[in-house]
Amino acid sequence: MGSIHLEAKPGEIAETILLPGDPLRAKYVADNFLEDAVCYNKVRNMLGFTGTYQGKRISIQGSGMGMGSTAIYVNELVNTYKVKNLIRVGTCGAIQSKLEVGEVILAMSASGDSGANMAYFNGMHYAATADFGLLQKAYEKAKELNISTHQGSIFSTNTFYDDNEKRWDIWEKHGILGVEMESQILYTLAKRLGAKALTVLTVSDNIRTGASASAKDREQSFTDMMKIALALA
Ligand code: HPA
Repeated sequence: MGSIHLEAKPGEIAETILLPGDPLRAKYVADNFLEDAVCYNKVRNMLGFTGTYQGKRISIQGSGMGMGSTAIYVNELVNTYKVKNLIRVGTCGAIQSKLEVGEVILAMSASGDSGANMAYFNGMHYAATADFGLLQKAYEKAKELNISTHQGSIFSTNTFYDDNEKRWDIWEKHGILGVEMESQILYTLAKRLGAKALTVLTVSDNIRTGASASAKDREQSFTDMMKIALALA
């Protein structure tokens, strides 16, 4: 008695879940950061695991790329499995030149081009925002861990590829830090369904400067981001 895209039994998914886009990242974190991790989903290879981190129960589930895929998992996690806290962990392309690859962003809000987000609000624009409690806790945990973070706005797009080179100028001007593909619908759905959400990102590349993370940078910043997110269990 799972949901359409998840085969976990009721109770097998923790109240707090981390959502990386890549299911193999979910497996990597389960193998390297969690204790007693058990895989509860293999449908579509969208792996999900539940284990403990510092004694607290936590799950981690691949969301897939983009808002269409993310929305499916968020709906089913909250409606069927009663998940309360959804924390996206991922990467973004920075659109402010001051941002260095490997830096961590706590996303206060997510603007974006989600058609679903527009449809829900009859063509008007909902300001998709993180849960303040989760944001504050993440900010404090990061400080305790001596990891510096940027707090600010991001943009979620459904089109990774676009030939309009000026596309990001207006968003840069309005203070958007980086671009990714999931958080706008995550934030909107969490509110709609009565759950809480936060996105923690690392900068994988800088669209302005052309900088891109080396394998070593990626590993360090990934660990930083995971430590912050796991501390929210
Ligand atoms: N665009 C969208 N999503 C991303 C990017 C990007 O440049 N980099 C990492 N995630």
